[in-house]
Amino acid sequence: MKQGVAILGIFVADLAFRASRQPVMGETLMGSGFKMGPGGKGSNQAVAAARAGGKVSFISRLGKDAFGDIAVATWKAEGIAPHVAIAPDEPTGAAYIFVSDETGENAIIVVPGAAGGLSPRDVEAARGAIEGARVFVTQLEQPIDAARTGLEIARAAGVITVFNPAPAAPVPAGIYALCDWVIPNETEAAALTGIPVDTEEQARKAGDALLAKGARNALITLGARGALLHTATRSMLVPSFNAGKVVETAGAGDAFVGAFATALAEGMEPAAAARFGCAAAGISVTRPGTAPAMPARPEIEALLRA
Ligand code: RIB
Repeated sequence: MKQGVAILGIFVADLAFRASRQPVMGETLMGSGFKMGPGGKGSNQAVAAARAGGKVSFISRLGKDAFGDIAVATWKAEGIAPHVAIAPDEPTGAAYIFVSDETGENAIIVVPGAAGGLSPRDVEAARGAIEGARVFVTQLEQPIDAARTGLEIARAAGVITVFNPAPAAPVPAGIYALCDWVIPNETEAAALTGIPVDTEEQARKAGDALLAKGARNALITLGARGALLHTATRSMLVPSFNAGKVVETAGAGDAFVGAFATALAEGMEPAAAARFGCAAAGISVTRPGTAPAMPARPEIEALLRA
């Protein structure tokens, strides 16, 4: 019987710097804090899905170095089953994350390192993990050919497919038709559709455009406003949750995607699954870090009850 969530994506070490603002070119700025921790959208989503209660496997590629060791330790601690190719001569990637002292908002530069070499062959090697899952998730931090192979394997096996097109990049037309759910944030939705996404109405238009491109359903995350669930038969705003003071928003999108995937894998109805994802995201922003900020299932349930 199919069970749980299989996620294809990258791990990188997040190097997070807090400061009042970003430096301008040629300037050195004193910061207020620094933290290193596990990151990478796919790996963050795997942690979020596992803490939300899912049985999770993660498909990726790592170097054989200190950052790679953090990845392996993270997945072990979270009970995530790795399907990982090792590239002994390539470095595991890293991300520079600027976090605003004032708002907790972020700006990121990510270098995927060894995971940037994830190939369709690496994904094929993990075919069993994808075919045995109830939900398959991928993003755009690794090459799109690898994402396509994962989506094709999942679709052919009747696995629910979730595509988080992040960071925004051109998506070949055939990919959308492989997606049961496409989950961009407002910036990514605008880049993919050419429609500015500043209002709920514009998000609906972008949702229509994503469906017209072939996606079965769209879920556009709208930051503090929540997420727009947009399908051929309904369009509804799922509101965000206020779980306390916002400390860092970098992992919020990944918290949403990972928790949503676990909820779908449990057979939750999509609007309830999106609400579950919004609650996870709402808690994640009250904590520093990306993967370390992901909430546990009882915390999500407590917020949903409150
Ligand atoms: O979505 C947040 C993630 O994007 C960070 O953890 C960083 O590693 C980048 O991949």
